[in-house]
Parts: sequence; structure tokens; C-alpha cells
Amino acid sequence: MKISPSLLAADFANLQRSVEKIEDTVDMLHLDVMDGLFVPNISFGPGVIEALRPHSKLFFDVHLMIERPERYVEVFRRAGADGITIHVESTENPAEVLKTIRALGAKPAISISPDTEAETIFPLLSLCDMVLVMTVYPGFGGQKLIPRCLDKVKALKAEIARLGLNISVEADGGIGNANLAEVLEAGVDVVVAGSAVFGAAAPSEAVAQMREIEASLKT
Ligand code: DX5
Ligand code: ZN
Repeated sequence: MKISPSLLAADFANLQRSVEKIEDTVDMLHLDVMDGLFVPNISFGPGVIEALRPHSKLFFDVHLMIERPERYVEVFRRAGADGITIHVESTENPAEVLKTIRALGAKPAISISPDTEAETIFPLLSLCDMVLVMTVYPGFGGQKLIPRCLDKVKALKAEIARLGLNISVEADGGIGNANLAEVLEAGVDVVVAGSAVFGAAAPSEAVAQMREIEASLKT
């Protein structure tokens, strides 16, 4: 399991300090970009990512919840994104945007919101390094995981295997210690956790607990 804590749940007045707390214990940093159009919330943009970039060696896993992301992928790449996830629902030509992300030297990923079927992105898989299955409606941290979304993880894993591709599956929204076992059993490779990590008194302890849960499933 890779862990990608979502900065959305961190203290926005102290982002650098928040990242330092988890820098050595996690695999990626999940950065949720919201435009107030694709989702009913506004978070932060490329300026914040660029400002954080010199303070972290982590893989910046940038999740774009914005309309027509083709307008901004280059800007986010330049700001320091290592991976860029776009929503299939947010653009008319997701294949072109994924190709652009790869041409810019970043790792492309496609995401589906809860009401979008897994099959919608089957034709895009060969263009991706990762797929992101939203387990809540995008827009806000701290929501409850929607269990039926995990069935899509299983369907995507099966299709990825059938195609012989090397693509990881990330799940995002409402994941914490109480349901981590269920999430991992569905086949999730990359776990996003916002409130469960940055909402904890000691974020690195919360990450350690998640790893203990994973280890307990293997024994
Ligand atoms: C929701 C975001 C998530 C969210 C996760 O739109 O994409 O990354 O911040 O937060 P939790 O883990 O609190 O659900
Ligand atoms: Zn996210």
C-alpha cells in the first residue's frame, strides 16, 4: 500500500509544517485542486503547489477537480506536479489531456466520481499510470466512504490485468482505520487519507497505524 495524505485536511496557515510532519513516513502527497465549478468548493491552485515544492521531496500527486483541465495541466506541471489526475467528467477529450500530461513529463491519471461507471474509463487505461476511484462525491474532505464505489476498484483491477497493464488504483475519500481493511481487500494500491492523517493529533502516528493494519491483513 502506498499512502498519499490529502493536504486538504491540513492547517492551511501552516502547510509547510504539515508536510514536514509526514514527509518521512508517506509515499506521496495528495494535492486537491478545486475550482468552484467542477465541484462546489475552492481549495488552492498552482501558486501554493509551487511554494511547497522546494520544501518536500515527496511525489506530488495533484488531483484536479476543475472544469476543462486542459487549460491548466502545463501550469500545474511547471508548479511541481509529478502526477496529474484529471476527471473523465471534466473534459470533452480526456485522452488528449492524458497524452499532454505524459508529454509534459508527468504521470497521467484518470478519475471517476461516484456516479460514473468503471467501464467509462476502460478505453483510457492504456494512457494512464494510475486511476483514481472517488469513494465520496468530490468537493469536500471529511465525508463518509460510499461502499459501492469499491466494486469499481475490483472491476478496474480485473480490466487492467486483462489488458496486461501496469497501472495502480488509488481510492480517495472517507478512508480511515475503520475501513482500511475493506479498501485494501478491494485491491486498492494507493490510499488517499485526509482527515484520518492531518486530522489526527500526530499525523505520522496515524500513518504508522495504517501500516499496522495493512500488516495485520497479511498474516
Ligand atoms: C475530496 C478530495 C479528497 C479528500 C479526502 O474531494 O478529493 O482528497 O480531501 O479527505 P478525507 O480523507 O477526509 O475524506
Ligand atoms: Zn483528492
